[in-house]
Amino acid sequence: MKFASHYKLDHTTTPKEVFVERRKFIKGAMALGLLPIQQVIASPHTFDSNKQCFDVGEQLATSQKKHVQSYSNYYEFSTDKQMVKHLAREFKTEPWQVRVSGLVESPLSLSLEDLKSFTSCRRTYRLRCVEGWSAVIPWHGFELNQLLSLVKPLPNARYVKFKSLHDPKQMINQRNNLMPWPYTEGLRLDEAMHPLTILATGMYNEALAKQNGAPIRLVVPWKYGFKSIKAITEIELVDTQPISSWSQSSPSEYGFYANVNPNVAHPRWNQRRELPLGAKKKIKTQLLNGYYEEVRDLYQNDVLDSLF
Ligand code: MTE
Repeated sequence: MKFASHYKLDHTTTPKEVFVERRKFIKGAMALGLLPIQQVIASPHTFDSNKQCFDVGEQLATSQKKHVQSYSNYYEFSTDKQMVKHLAREFKTEPWQVRVSGLVESPLSLSLEDLKSFTSCRRTYRLRCVEGWSAVIPWHGFELNQLLSLVKPLPNARYVKFKSLHDPKQMINQRNNLMPWPYTEGLRLDEAMHPLTILATGMYNEALAKQNGAPIRLVVPWKYGFKSIKAITEIELVDTQPISSWSQSSPSEYGFYANVNPNVAHPRWNQRRELPLGAKKKIKTQLLNGYYEEVRDLYQNDVLDSLF
């Protein structure tokens, strides 16, 4: 098994064989249509402490924290990327609840304290925005599949729908009808179960900055950044493909899959190259953002070839 250049294992923390074997297992089970849900389910309301979570990508050169924390897409606060951190300064991230519901056997409501019980991992991923900029960010959090396994998706659950907080008192741009609020996103269940998909609660070894989605956000590294929804309050398992806020407001620009693909043109922004935050020169954008080896098996060619 080869690893994409920027997706390297930290051999000091996890033996490569263990990780590769586990990935083979997950890929095999998915190919057979046997999502590993049943095999990793913990009993209701208990967390599986034996489950391993892997620290990956640590050899990657990360973007500077000051760049990542002062250039934010967070439309609930502002469309001005540099204003977001100022407007989010007073945003209250505690107490917080994440409700997990829909087509599941055991719906749950989790506090920030509960979220700490999942096996944590560190992941350094490239975040590629469809607007043509990128950043390499050291996140920490946990694999979303842990949470999904805990609530036990029913057989007819096919997609996962995510919602951000709706609170126009605090999120001042929600007073405008800029886009449908709350910010909503979605994944196919197998994408959500993939071990690269995480819920991040921190970055740069600190709690998540408010402008970057505190207290909890999704990170799906092979998809354009708009899929990585911030300030999540609701996760719902559903049987039909969810319509995201962006797809609703501009369907030709923001599709459901939104897999990073430099070979598929976007109506507004060139996807062949990207400008890393803080850099002067653009670099080539990689297919599936460099995570081709890891996620290619999730897709038929038609999905890979059509950006949206
Ligand atoms: N989540 C919410 N709730 N609101 C947003 O406006 N913007 C998205 C995504 N998640 C957004 C969101 C977009 S377009 C991108 S590129 C990434 O967050 C940016 O993440 P960052 O600001 O932490 O770099």
